[in-house]
Amino acid sequence: MNKKEKIVIIGAQGMLGQELVKVFKRDKEYAVFAWDKKEIDPVRSPLRTRNGKRSKWFTSNGVDITQEKKVKNKISKLRPSVIINAAAYNAVDKAEDAKEYSFAKKVNGLAPGYLAKAAKEIGAVLVHYSTDYVFDGNPDIPEPEGCAHACSSCNLHETFQPAIGFDENAKPRPISKYGRSKLTGEKEIRKITKKYYIIRLSKLFGKLAKAKDAKKSFFDVMLEAGKKNKVVKVVDEETSCFTYAPDLAKKTKEIIDSKKPFGVYHIVNSEPCTWYEAVLELYKIAKIKAKVIPVSATEFPRPAKRPYYSVLLNTKLNPLRSYKEALKEYLKK
Ligand SMILES: NC(=O)c1ccc[n+]([C@@H]2O[C@H](COP(=O)([O-])OP(=O)(O)OC[C@H]3O[C@@H](n4cnc5c(N)ncnc54)[C@H](OP(=O)(O)O)[C@@H]3O)[C@@H](O)[C@H]2O)c1
Repeated sequence: MNKKEKIVIIGAQGMLGQELVKVFKRDKEYAVFAWDKKEIDPVRSPLRTRNGKRSKWFTSNGVDITQEKKVKNKISKLRPSVIINAAAYNAVDKAEDAKEYSFAKKVNGLAPGYLAKAAKEIGAVLVHYSTDYVFDGNPDIPEPEGCAHACSSCNLHETFQPAIGFDENAKPRPISKYGRSKLTGEKEIRKITKKYYIIRLSKLFGKLAKAKDAKKSFFDVMLEAGKKNKVVKVVDEETSCFTYAPDLAKKTKEIIDSKKPFGVYHIVNSEPCTWYEAVLELYKIAKIKAKVIPVSATEFPRPAKRPYYSVLLNTKLNPLRSYKEALKEYLKK
């Protein structure tokens, strides 16, 4: 009998992590190790078999990725062939505070480097997630082939419909401290190992993470607002793509299973939109009658700057379905 491939998922209680655990557990080729900062409740642990006994692969599942030595020891003891890091510090506004930023830098910036070192030592592949917030919101506007100048007025422009956004090779220029901390993580990984997949995503939504203080995703917040209020004001800016956690988890598995070339990937659901446009769609599907008013971001000032336009262009993989389809599925669940 073939040996199962060992895969470690870190941040397994998070919004994305829990979907990754589900997707890989369905495939009997994998022995899945679900780790998070806090020990995962052993009764509900994915490491338990159906009869309640510990899986023969059982290992203590608590790990803080900022503790370099502990991470290294735990990984070298288990020797997985794939390590997926879905753990992160995601409090975008809080990270503007100096003390919080130093914490964010450890989790998002330095810890991915520790994981990369541990992965390299045992020849494992490292999968890591990053964000559209590594970009500044001002994408380069492509010129049609043959147009040697940027006048935008020659006849070559008449039928030219460029995809506007940031592809996998676009130059990151973060405008928030959270974005900077995530970019540091990307750089650390690239410096240390060649066997990596860095997957950028934006506006994640899905089932609430398991942590007590887990942040609800945008759609859940807006559903509540629409049920409680007759009028809801929503920012009509920050055009980017939503990413449905179960779709991202499946696509991550596809990349690993099909041994795609290592490097940076962009995985988001298709159909970019602003927050306002997304709420119109949400209320249409959920049949919520509240009136939705588009407003500028200046009506809801927040400490961290966000990119005005941060559509991630995927030039390497088959596209995911539209966020509208994914949203319908999410609301049914
Ligand atoms: N959410 C978004 O809209 C969004 C957008 C773009 C990119 N991303 C990226 O997508 C990935 C997944 O995000 P997510 O929203 O699923 O995250 P999440 O729900 O916040 O989950 C992250 C998990 O990691 C754990 N964790 C935090 N610090 C840790 C540490 N030092 N050691 C071990 N575990 C730790 C958290 O535990 P605690 O809860 O106990 O801290 C939590 O269970 C991240 O890389 C994130 O940056 C997310």
